[in-house]
Amino acid sequence: MLNPTHHSHAKELYPLITDKVTATIQWDGPTSFEDFEEALRVKEIAVRNKEIYQFTIMHPDFQQPIGSISIRPDESMFRADIGLWIGEKYHGQGLGTKAIRAITNFGFKELKLSKIEGNIFVGNIASRRIFEKCGYQLEGTIRHKVIKRGKPVDEWLFGILLEEWNE
Ligand SMILES: CC(C)(COP(=O)(O)OP(=O)(O)OC[C@H]1O[C@@H](n2cnc3c(N)ncnc32)[C@H](O)[C@@H]1OP(=O)(O)O)[C@@H](O)C(=O)NCCC(=O)NCCS
Repeated sequence: MLNPTHHSHAKELYPLITDKVTATIQWDGPTSFEDFEEALRVKEIAVRNKEIYQFTIMHPDFQQPIGSISIRPDESMFRADIGLWIGEKYHGQGLGTKAIRAITNFGFKELKLSKIEGNIFVGNIASRRIFEKCGYQLEGTIRHKVIKRGKPVDEWLFGILLEEWNE
């Protein structure tokens, strides 16, 4: 269900980036279609440089782009964090859980990471649930971690260790 992101996915992904989707992530969304397509081209370069691994989430039945997920390792390839979003009309169908499971597998099996984390805005219950369902544990709450739409936001830090994933 995860395909390496290509700038040609911009056409199907762009209409899915609504206010509701960007309300609970740090990114505020693109200012135009052209900006978004360019941002995907820039991501392709970052992927080639192994700075980030960016995938388009494909609907498992229709093979159509429905969202985006990335995993960004630190320089020593020890620890990484995950970011994701899915278009509103596809929420609540278990697809976020499948995407987290798939990228966690990729992080441990292909990237040989030791730990993977998710930083979740406090109160984002849907996101908290999908990480919990994949075995991630709450490690703490980081106060005023980021500024979102002019306001400070606290974040839950969720994490999973390689040995926990193997169990
Ligand atoms: C977070 C997100 C990826 C979840 O994707 P999804 O495909 O809807 O997730 P799933 O269907 O796999 O699971 C959602 C779970 O949250 C639960 N849930 C959703 N809203 C809830 C709420 N308000 N209260 C309690 N549980 C809630 C669902 O019941 C489900 O859990 P269950 O399977 O135990 O019933 C999606 O909501 C999204 O893209 N949101 C906007 C961007 C975002 O917040 N990204 C995450 C940044 S860390």
